[in-house]
Amino acid sequence: MVVDITSNDLGKRAAAARALEFVESGMILGLGTGSTAAWFVKLLAEKIITEGLVVSCVPTSRITRDQAYSLKIPLTTLEKTDFIDLVVDGADEFDLDFNLIKGGGGALLQEKIVASAAKHMLVITDSSKESLCLGSFDLPVEIVKFGASSTKRFVENIVRDLGYHDVCAKYRKNADNERFVTDEGHLIIDLALKKINEVSVLQDHLIKCAGVVETGLFLGMAKTIVIGNSDGSCKLIGVSKI
Ligand code: A5P
Repeated sequence: MVVDITSNDLGKRAAAARALEFVESGMILGLGTGSTAAWFVKLLAEKIITEGLVVSCVPTSRITRDQAYSLKIPLTTLEKTDFIDLVVDGADEFDLDFNLIKGGGGALLQEKIVASAAKHMLVITDSSKESLCLGSFDLPVEIVKFGASSTKRFVENIVRDLGYHDVCAKYRKNADNERFVTDEGHLIIDLALKKINEVSVLQDHLIKCAGVVETGLFLGMAKTIVIGNSDGSCKLIGVSKI
């Protein structure tokens, strides 16, 4: 059977394969969410079978858990383990200060919890997501359902007071055009900020807003970023060995 693999997929697969070189037997791994992370999960499963690699993994979403389970990857939870050696996850946008926007796949809360518990966060991505200044990707903000309209207005006021003008928060929708509900039962609003001048200031203000659970800003958490190219090559920035 001929499998049609796009040039985008080639870059994602290349980054995932490079990330796999960081994995050693005995590790507890965090498994990210998204199409790039899905490549890592697939290659990891192959390595477990072909090389007898022994790992235990904490998935960051139901969709990743289902993929890992179907590939017979050993799973664990943060209730059963105190720390994670390495989390491998994708990103929607990154800068060269190792700041990320994540949450395009709606899993930002669990992704941030797993990344916080990890000794090392490795991001697999492609060069189209590199940015001098974050904000071209709309910033996802996870909010609780109770009082969502009120929280949304508060968030709009917060960003306006910080100097981001005419930003209308939009509810994330699913394929049926209903409000997207996260694995934790929350909603997501997306903020088209275009250019975020001070990422920490924005994070500090948003996270203090009642009703906001988490934002898609992952600031300085990643230690390594692997950028995959469609010719199968990779560029690694940050820590090259753990
Ligand atoms: C999931 O919630 C996101 O944080 C993903 O990691 C991010 O959207 C990257 O996804 P892709 O690898 O599909 O671009």
